[in-house]
Amino acid sequence: MPIYSSLPVYAILLLLSWLFSSVPLCAFDNRLVAGKPLSPGSVLISQDGVFALGFFFPSNSTKNHHYVGIWYNGIPERTVVWVSNRAAPITTNLSSANLAVTSSSDIVLYDSDGHVLWTTNNNISIDKDAVASVEAVLDNTGNFILRSLADSAILWQSFDHPTDTLVPGMNLRLSHNTLPLQHLVSWKGQHDPSPGEFSYGANPKSLLQCFIWNGSRPHLRSPVWTNYLNMDRFKKSAIYLALHYTGDEVYMSFGMPTGSFILLVRMEIDYSGKVNILSWDSNMLVWRALYVEPQHECNMYGYCGPYGYCDNTEIVPVCKCLDGFEPTDGKGWIAGSFSQGCRPKEVRRCTHGDGFLAFPGMKVPDKFLHVLSKSFDECTEECRSNCSCVAYAYSRMSNMDIDGDDTRCLVWMGDLIDMENNTQGGENLYVRTRILQGDMRKIKTLEIVLSVVSSFLVLICLGLIWIYAFRGWKLLL
Ligand SMILES: *[C@@H]1O[C@H](CO)[C@@H](O)[C@H](O)[C@H]1NC(C)=O
Ligand SMILES: *[C@@H]1O[C@H](CO)[C@@H](O)[C@H](O)[C@H]1NC(C)=O
Ligand SMILES: *[C@@H]1O[C@H](CO)[C@@H](O)[C@H](O)[C@H]1NC(C)=O
Ligand SMILES: *[C@@H]1O[C@H](CO)[C@@H](O)[C@H](O)[C@H]1NC(C)=O
Ligand SMILES: *[C@@H]1O[C@H](CO)[C@@H](O)[C@H](O)[C@H]1NC(C)=O
Ligand SMILES: *[C@@H]1O[C@H](CO)[C@@H](O)[C@H](O)[C@H]1NC(C)=O
Repeated sequence: MPIYSSLPVYAILLLLSWLFSSVPLCAFDNRLVAGKPLSPGSVLISQDGVFALGFFFPSNSTKNHHYVGIWYNGIPERTVVWVSNRAAPITTNLSSANLAVTSSSDIVLYDSDGHVLWTTNNNISIDKDAVASVEAVLDNTGNFILRSLADSAILWQSFDHPTDTLVPGMNLRLSHNTLPLQHLVSWKGQHDPSPGEFSYGANPKSLLQCFIWNGSRPHLRSPVWTNYLNMDRFKKSAIYLALHYTGDEVYMSFGMPTGSFILLVRMEIDYSGKVNILSWDSNMLVWRALYVEPQHECNMYGYCGPYGYCDNTEIVPVCKCLDGFEPTDGKGWIAGSFSQGCRPKEVRRCTHGDGFLAFPGMKVPDKFLHVLSKSFDECTEECRSNCSCVAYAYSRMSNMDIDGDDTRCLVWMGDLIDMENNTQGGENLYVRTRILQGDMRKIKTLEIVLSVVSSFLVLICLGLIWIYAFRGWKLLL
C-alpha cells in the first residue's frame, strides 16, 4: 500500500507546483478558422495554456514521419494524447503541409502536394459564404472541437475519436444501440503512433466486463462488474473512473470533478499492452503511474489455465488450482507452464443434491451466461438443476440497472477460465461440489456477514477519498 498512502501529500505538492509553473499564454491562438491554415512550426494553444495542437515527429530517429497531434504544452517531455493522422504520416517535404478548415465543414490535413492525409469526413455542403461561420477550437480539456458559429452545434470533436489516451472529461462508449463501440488503440511502438496490436474496450457480447486485446485475442480481462458505481459519490473524489447508463448508451468516463484543483492525469494503453493511469509530477518532471495493469504475467488472460487461478495474495502472484482440483500436467505445472490448468481430483457424478463451495474474493471466470431477473436462491437453483452448470456468482447492481433489471446472476456451463484471487475486492464464486446441507447453511450465514461488512467498508471509504477512487479503479478496470 505505499503508493496509496503517500497520495494525498503528493497531490498537494503537485497542486502547489502547478500553480507556480503555469504561465498564461493568451498570446497564442486556440482556434483554427477558414482561410488561415495551421502550418508546421505553429501551434494552437488552449486558453489556459495546458494543451497544444500542432505538427510533431515522435523521435529524432523518425524525423521524416510527421503527425498532427495534441500534447501537454507545459511538459518538457512531449506527451501526445491524441493523433489525427496516426495511420498516414507526412513523409514528404513538410514545409507546405497544413491543417485547414474547409468549405465542406471539415478539418483536413494536406501534405505538401495537396494530398489529403486525414479528414474529419463531415462533408456537409454549405454555401461558400457560410465557410466563415465554422471554427475549430482547442478547448481547455484538450478537446479539438469543430463547430458552427451560427448555432454552436458541434460538427466533430476529437474526444469522439480517441486514440490511445483518455484525459479527464473524455468518455469511452462501451455499448450503444446504433453507434459503434469505442476502443483505445495502442501505438505500435514507443515512437510510432500508428495503430498497434493492443486495444482496450468493452466486450461487444457483454458490457459487464472490459478487455485489453492483443489483436483479436484477450490479453487481460477486467473483473466482472458487480455494481454500477454511484456517480454522486464519485463526484466528491479527486479522480474517478465510472460507468454511465443512458437510455441507449453505456459509456465509461475518466475524470475529475469540475472546479477541483488542476492535476494532469491521463489513462493510456501503451505499446506493450499495459493500461496505465498516470499523473504528472512537476517536481521530478516525470509521469508517475498511479495504476498499472497487468502487473504480473499471472494476471494475464487465462494464464493459469482452466480451473486454475492467479493468487494475488502471495507476495509474488502464483497460479493455484481451485480446492478439489489438481494440475492436469503436474511436471509442467512445477516447471512453470500453467496453460493446461487443473482437473478434478475425483470424477464426480452430478446429482440434484449437489451443493456449492464458495470461494470468496474471486475475480470470477470469463465465458459466463448472464441469466436475467433471478433472486440469489433462484440463481443457485438455476445452476443446481442443470448438470452442465459448473459454477455461479450473484450480485445486485444496487446503483443502476439495465432495462429495469438490477440482478446479475452469472452461470458457467463450461471450463472456468481466467480467475484471480485478491484480499480486497472480488466476489464469491460458487463452484459445484457435493457437500452436506449443514455446510450450505454456514456459507449462507457467512455471506450475510460479508455483505454487512462490505457496506460498512463503503462508508469508511467515503471519508478516504483517494483510496476510494482507487477501489473504484480496481473494481472497474
Ligand atoms: C533530438 O534532437 C535535438 C536537437 O536536434 C536534441 O536537442 C534532442 O536532445 C534530441 N533528442 C533525443 C531523444 O535524442
Ligand atoms: C520543400 O519545399 C520548399 C517550398 O515548397 C522548398 O523551398 C524546399 O527546398 C523543399 N525542401 C526539400 C528538402 O525538398
Ligand atoms: C462530399 O459530398 C459530395 C456530394 O454531397 C460528393 O460528391 C463528394 O464526393 C463528397 N466528398 C467526400 C470527400 O466524401
Ligand atoms: C501478442 O500476441 C502475439 C501473437 O499473436 C504474441 O506473439 C505476443 O507475444 C503477444 N504479446 C503479448 C505481450 O502477450
Ligand atoms: C483467496 O484468498 C483469501 C485470502 O487469502 C483466502 O481466504 C481464500 O480462500 C482464497 N480463495 C481461494 C479460491 O483460494
Ligand atoms: C443446461 O444448460 C445448457 C446451456 O444453457 C442447455 O443447453 C441445456 O438445455 C440445459 N439443460 C437442462 C436440463 O436444462
